[in-house]
Amino acid sequence: MEQYIINGNKVLGGEIAVAGAKNQALKVLPAAILCQNPCLLKNVPEIEDVERMIELLTDLGAQITRKGKGEYEISTKEINKTKLKPELVKKLRASIMVAGPMLARFGEVTLAHPGGCIIGQRPIDLFIEGFQKLGAQMSEDGDIFTLRAEKLRGAEIILPRVSVTVTENLMMAATLAEGTTHIKNAAMEPEIVALAEFLNQQGSKIKGAGTPEILIEGVKELKGGEVKIIPDRIECGTFIMLGLITNGQIKITNCEPKHIENLLYSLDKAGAKLEIGQDYIVTHPSNLKGVDIVTHEYPGFPTDLQAPFTVLMTQVKGTSLIHETIFPGRLFYTDILNQMGANIIMCDPHRVVVTGPTKLYAKKLVSPDLRAGMALILAALVAEGSSIIENIYQINRGYENIVARLQKIGADIKQV
Ligand code: EPU
Repeated sequence: MEQYIINGNKVLGGEIAVAGAKNQALKVLPAAILCQNPCLLKNVPEIEDVERMIELLTDLGAQITRKGKGEYEISTKEINKTKLKPELVKKLRASIMVAGPMLARFGEVTLAHPGGCIIGQRPIDLFIEGFQKLGAQMSEDGDIFTLRAEKLRGAEIILPRVSVTVTENLMMAATLAEGTTHIKNAAMEPEIVALAEFLNQQGSKIKGAGTPEILIEGVKELKGGEVKIIPDRIECGTFIMLGLITNGQIKITNCEPKHIENLLYSLDKAGAKLEIGQDYIVTHPSNLKGVDIVTHEYPGFPTDLQAPFTVLMTQVKGTSLIHETIFPGRLFYTDILNQMGANIIMCDPHRVVVTGPTKLYAKKLVSPDLRAGMALILAALVAEGSSIIENIYQINRGYENIVARLQKIGADIKQV
């Protein structure tokens, strides 16, 4: 079984470029199903989750060609079935993103309950409710379900919870529906704005993406064209914290600082010395203190940056209350940090108090999920001694070629 071996306690430095956003690439690939002509995707991160999505779409009949690094051409006119392979669906939570486009283009889709990160229950009730509002009928057979609609019809949909993938799925389905769809209490993430821009370039009529109300006027067909995936804001935020936690001077390039304003606010309160440019950020050694965070939908503090922030707080002076409001079960990795020497008290499944600074010691670790896994890399990079991280598939799901990129900025990490 492959693992990372990390020798910690080294000051890092140098330049690291941010890859394309996983959570946009995983939506634009299925969005190509809505398009008549081939689409060319650029700056696609070469990560396991993208590979799984490519496998899933290829199995349906889509033709996907890698043109160069991070460049993929996708043609979906050859799609010849509407049943998604259950074993592929279960490998990737984002496989549900195929549902909306398939339903809109072919009037039918069959899939299993998707898998993904082990961060709480991850229900799919809001997707189903939304598709039903657009006129789809659902039938179930165990955990396999089929959605059918001869023609989707525009509808008013109020989301009881703000959900990123539900917003995106309904937005995509509604592009080819008859009439106008109004999504209220929509999620506002930058990846949603980028997806809407791509769809509008292909002929859809979406207004309001990036606000809580999205209006989609259905059109007959979408063309197909080119898109450059936006920089991954979670990777960017993680690299900033990596620089701060290792007292390094790291220049993070190819990034969009505007997409992580809430993280930058919290780091500023903690005393971080950062140089923030238009598309780069430089970390400087800083004397940090503890600050509290509450995760929240965009533009709040991203849940996907909660774990690396918590690791950072173990190394700074004072206490920090970390309040995770999006996913239950997304703080359990803090137990692993305690085994490394951190002082973290769990108040309830949604809140922990971190008291720092504490020295961390190397350990044999198992990556619980993608973001906690990356946080464990940060912990191992400041720990005394040699750590082993297992279950690294979870990390490779979302971070491209992470070993080589970290080695380039001086990290003592290798994959064996
Ligand atoms: N929810 C429901 N019912 C549903 C769907 C969601 O109750 O049918 C709940 C979820 O259980 C959660 C809340 O709604 O408590 C919000 O979750 P959301 O649906 O927004 O999450 P998601 O769309 O499944 C995306 C990202 C996640 C990221 C969250 C929050 C993708 C592929 N995934 O997930 O990314 O954490 O939004 O920003 O875009 C990651 O990259 O590591 C990751 C988990």
